[in-house]
Amino acid sequence: MRQGKYGCAVWGCGWVASGHINAYLRHPACEVVALGSRSSSSIEAKQKEFGIATAAYTDFAALLADERVDIVSICTPNNQHAQECIMAAKAGKHVFIEKPIAIREEDLPAMIAAVEGAGVKSMVGFILRFKPLVAMQRRLVQEGELGRVFMANVDYWFGRERPGWMKHRDDCGGAFILAGCHSVDMARYIVGADICEVRGDAAMVGDYYEYPPVETAQVRFSNGALGVFTCSLVGCNPYTANIHVLGEKGTIMNDRFYLRRFAGQADYFTIDTGSKNSGNVYDHPFPAMVGHFIDCIREDRESPHNLRDAVNAHLACLAIRKSADAKGQKILIDNDTCTLALA
Ligand SMILES: NC(=O)c1ccc[n+]([C@@H]2O[C@H](COP(=O)([O-])OP(=O)(O)OC[C@H]3O[C@@H](n4cnc5c(N)ncnc54)[C@H](OP(=O)(O)O)[C@@H]3O)[C@@H](O)[C@H]2O)c1
Repeated sequence: MRQGKYGCAVWGCGWVASGHINAYLRHPACEVVALGSRSSSSIEAKQKEFGIATAAYTDFAALLADERVDIVSICTPNNQHAQECIMAAKAGKHVFIEKPIAIREEDLPAMIAAVEGAGVKSMVGFILRFKPLVAMQRRLVQEGELGRVFMANVDYWFGRERPGWMKHRDDCGGAFILAGCHSVDMARYIVGADICEVRGDAAMVGDYYEYPPVETAQVRFSNGALGVFTCSLVGCNPYTANIHVLGEKGTIMNDRFYLRRFAGQADYFTIDTGSKNSGNVYDHPFPAMVGHFIDCIREDRESPHNLRDAVNAHLACLAIRKSADAKGQKILIDNDTCTLALA
């Protein structure tokens, strides 16, 4: 930290990097001291976009060796996150890691050990948690307004043009792990329980992706609730992240609510939280996320959105793929050992 400011670096200067850079620039306690990427042209493009002069690195180890860097955002392709997170933690940097944190369950224990062993703070880019509507949905469930929750269904449908690396399963992991993890995490966050059992299915649609871009799952939460999850990277629809939560005393259908508390309610009532329905990183609440992370670092406390918390959502996404590969066989999730087992 220099002159009361945290030195921030963003590694991987692609699309999501803009959300991170913008958020750091807007925070009064942050200074963007370094940008890094595979190619210098991508770094220069970001410097130009934001009108900033920073150190520029095409080598991650060199970026981490920069003593001015306190916080690193990892914004590279999915298959690089695990190794880069471990490197950053071992270098003593706080880590804001994009989802998915890993595309193989085997990588999770070493990541957690590195972050917790180094005593650095971590936060995962599950941006939907910072949407006011999601915060309100979670609060209603936590405060018992829905009574016992027995079902939570989520959808993540986002058919957009994606960069080439996202075509390949070895680089990105699959439909849920790449994209639908946002909604899986949202379900878990709102219900307030882990996902413990999964049955998945998948379908090839179109010829852009080398893996099925459509996946579905039936899940069971640790509190006994059931869920149906769907994810589509293709298709013709605006960005759609549905969440439907059913409880014995109320129901949530996205921004529509039906609560027993309000006797005589004839139909769902709607709450407009003013959020734009958008999958564009420029519309995402990254400034709120960064603000929260800075508070955690300053106050030396763990974020509830940290690496360890993200493990269950990732295991659930990986389990969907594994189950689909095993023709829908049930997969059991063990968070403690970060393992998946065929039932
Ligand atoms: N939380 C969210 O809402 C959100 C939204 C979007 C994306 N994401 C996540 O953020 C990460 C980056 O996604 P993105 O959409 O920003 O992707 P992107 O536009 O492709 O950017 C990734 C950057 O990583 C660099 N890179 C390094 N090694 C690479 C390799 N082997 N192949 C390709 N690129 C490589 C590239 O740098 P060069 O240009 O220098 O080659 C590229 O600019 C992903 O993990 C994604 O899941 C999260």
